Amino acid sequence: MITSLIVAVAENNVIGKDNDLIWRLPKDMKFFKETTLNHHIITGRKNYISIPKKFRPLPNRTNIVLTRQTDFKEEGCVIAHSLEGAIAHAKDNNETELFIIGGGQIYKEALEKGLIDRMYITHVHHDFDGDTFFPEIDEKIWNKVSEISNSVDEKHQYPYSFVVYEKIN
Ligand SMILES: NC(=O)c1ccc[n+]([C@@H]2O[C@H](COP(=O)([O-])OP(=O)(O)OC[C@H]3O[C@@H](n4cnc5c(N)ncnc54)[C@H](OP(=O)(O)O)[C@@H]3O)[C@@H](O)[C@H]2O)c1
Repeated sequence: MITSLIVAVAENNVIGKDNDLIWRLPKDMKFFKETTLNHHIITGRKNYISIPKKFRPLPNRTNIVLTRQTDFKEEGCVIAHSLEGAIAHAKDNNETELFIIGGGQIYKEALEKGLIDRMYITHVHHDFDGDTFFPEIDEKIWNKVSEISNSVDEKHQYPYSFVVYEKIN
């Protein structure tokens, strides 16, 4: 099983503010959906709660919610109390590619523990004011394997690029 993460990151590494996303890029939302569909996804409890109620659990994906609260319940979700336990659940259920979908705490822990094989990063080419950040990408560890650049249009206020990184072994 490959363990991947998927995230949209501003130039200044901001990924969120006030437990919400900052920018609206419909093609990035579509990319997120298409990439994660039919896979296991792992989300921190705060990121999960930030998804509007009518859209969660994210459909056609096994939603694994990470929390330290022993009494946390959410219909239609798997609840996990450690990142390693969440990853093991996906592996035990024959997942081929698992997606960590944030937020900041979960990305940081997964990267620091060396648990990630591949990163799907949408670089949003703009600086934003925020309170949640993605770690610096260490080019000694990560190899850029693909890049698609997108320009501003009537529905996309900022230029952005879909980049895939794989860990250098
Ligand atoms: N731009 C993007 O692509 C993107 C993607 C995702 C999220 N975001 C943004 O990121 C922000 C949320 O990130 P965040 O860092 O505040 O929170 P988070 O990572 O989503 O969730 C943190 C929570 O996860 C649980 N947790 C963390 N580590 C754990 C562990 N090792 N074991 C068990 N549970 C653990 C704890 O829940 P309990 O408190 O319940 O114990 C903790 O409070 C929002 O602004 C969101 O919009 C952006």
